Amino acid sequence: MFAVYAAEPNADDPLKSLVVGERPDPEVPAGHVAVDVQAASVNMHDLWTLRGVGIKPDQFPMILGCDGAGTLEDGSPVVIHSVIVTPGWTGDETLDPKRTLLTEKYQGTFAERVVVPERNVVPKPEGLSFAEGAVMGTAWLTAYRMLFVKSGLRPGQTMLVQGASGGVSTALIQLGKAAGMRVWVTGRSEDKRALAAELGADATFESGARLPERVDAAFETVGKATWSHSIKSLKPGGTVVVSGATSGDADAGELQRIFFLQMRIVGSTMGTKDELADLLAFCQQAGIKPQIGTELPMAEADAALRAMEDGDTAGKIVLTR
Ligand SMILES: NC(=O)c1ccc[n+]([C@@H]2O[C@H](COP(=O)([O-])OP(=O)(O)OC[C@H]3O[C@@H](n4cnc5c(N)ncnc54)[C@H](OP(=O)(O)O)[C@@H]3O)[C@@H](O)[C@H]2O)c1
Repeated sequence: MFAVYAAEPNADDPLKSLVVGERPDPEVPAGHVAVDVQAASVNMHDLWTLRGVGIKPDQFPMILGCDGAGTLEDGSPVVIHSVIVTPGWTGDETLDPKRTLLTEKYQGTFAERVVVPERNVVPKPEGLSFAEGAVMGTAWLTAYRMLFVKSGLRPGQTMLVQGASGGVSTALIQLGKAAGMRVWVTGRSEDKRALAAELGADATFESGARLPERVDAAFETVGKATWSHSIKSLKPGGTVVVSGATSGDADAGELQRIFFLQMRIVGSTMGTKDELADLLAFCQQAGIKPQIGTELPMAEADAALRAMEDGDTAGKIVLTR
């Protein structure tokens, strides 16, 4: 079948190991389902996979794509939940120490078909297109859990989103706005800040700018480049929710400020299947149209991944069949 895959790990030149080609048709073991993929989205995780980060060398070649939407054999439309747990695991899937994401052990979604455990699909609401459904499983689910499960924020409070145009950032802006938060956003360029404003940000700032007042919670996926700013922007007792470190680990932990002002630092990763179903329902009920900046055929995955590597994003990048 057609597939876009990483042939081998390449730490220095990740796109060099990208292949747009053919992989064997997957088998469907008992307890699993095949999904005919209609759309999938690009995530930073795909670049990590090409670099060989978070995946064992013997797992290559690996089809990329951590999320997606498509149809089951009987034609029913579904969104894929990409957190794969050990058989028999019950409860919060993200807490299974042996969980994997699609593309770590299981082959990913940049292909004609993907095979996942039966429990890893949820019905796609009619109001969401396949492209919109495809962005939900990773970036949007991560943003949903950060905001609604981990932050403790209430409507009316102020949230700071670090980064304006990324997949997780744009999801945080749209979800926060729909839920009645006051949404403040930092962005690296005027264009990116303008996008955040279009998506509902109440105010936008240059990266690292001093804010007019301190915020109740900061949302971090950037790491090193913005961590100190996040900590310094918090009210006493405020919360930083962190789910990524794109620019690397923070140099200064800011420990003195954290304990003296009694801040909470909360880690967050992906989300549960129930949270994915709730996210889909919330988007439907609130009329949220997830921001998709670029839509390309899967055969042009190289351009899509290059755009993400260059930081050339305006919301999610979606690949369609
Ligand atoms: N833990 C999880 O489950 C999980 C799930 C999804 C993603 N993640 C992680 O979250 C991170 C973001 O993922 P994504 O898919 O949203 O990536 P993305 O679409 O490429 O977005 C990257 C974001 O980071 C910002 N950024 C990057 N470098 C920066 C710098 N030097 N200074 C300021 N801002 C910078 C960008 O801000 P501008 O808009 O201003 O350019 C942009 O908003 C990645 O590290 C990813 O691995 C984790």
